[in-house]
Amino acid sequence: MRIIYSADEMQQIANKYRELGKKIGFVPTMGYLHEGHLSLVRKAKEDNDVVFVSIFVNPLQFAPNEDLDKYPRDLRRDEELLKEEGVDFLFYPAVEKMYPDGFQTYVEVEKLTKVLEGKSRPTHFKGVTTVVLKLFNITKPHRAYFGKKDAQQLLVIRRMVKDLNLDIDVVGMPIVREEDGLAMSSRNKYLNEEERKQAVCLYKSLKKAEELINSGETDAKEIIDEMKKVIKSYPLAEIDYISINRLSDLEELKTIEKGNTLVSLAVRIGQTRLIDNMWF
Ligand code: PAF
Repeated sequence: MRIIYSADEMQQIANKYRELGKKIGFVPTMGYLHEGHLSLVRKAKEDNDVVFVSIFVNPLQFAPNEDLDKYPRDLRRDEELLKEEGVDFLFYPAVEKMYPDGFQTYVEVEKLTKVLEGKSRPTHFKGVTTVVLKLFNITKPHRAYFGKKDAQQLLVIRRMVKDLNLDIDVVGMPIVREEDGLAMSSRNKYLNEEERKQAVCLYKSLKKAEELINSGETDAKEIIDEMKKVIKSYPLAEIDYISINRLSDLEELKTIEKGNTLVSLAVRIGQTRLIDNMWF
């Protein structure tokens, strides 16, 4: 695996593979990799001739009060994991190279970003779409892989790709969970032992929603109320939001629409904000 620090060099490599008629799979990450990321890499390996992964902790998607400085980083470990998976190129740019002096161009998906995560983190998605479009232009993938754990991010990126006519297939991959159901996330590292135990409440509340939906409940408020009860039985958990939205446009739903419903939540466990979701 080669590590590439320069955007120009990464672009030249991508051009070369395209000229050879090779399919490029791309997995953008912020590093501190876990099984969730590796499942994307494995799928990218399966689907494409060459796989690029990026590691870039993107300052633009963190608000000033968020965890940019303490976001976990371990390049050596990530490198080893990616080598083991047979990744061909790791793109690892410096912040000053991605956002040099004078940088002033941003990409914004307007409506989808105003709800859910966007309500709690109003500048977040503008940072995500801007960096992802830059990364797409640098790595020129045929296919790009994103986890469903960041469900709204996946929908926002799909919207951007459609609206801007990018010729990229955006592949969404299932959430990978720990044994007790906690969705894998680099931020799980922040949890102490007791918090880690209680973090399972997000999954438990989603399972409650699943149970209700499977037994025929369609009233969103009823489902949310039951999910709240589950979360409230964990003393360290503080709900940011629990929401039921239509997957296709993220409009809030009063009634479950089978095949088109996103149940999602954000919960603080101590200082750590966790998100999770299920698609119905
Ligand atoms: O999901 C992430 O890790 C990030 O939001 C992404 C897509 C790499 C953009 O910085």
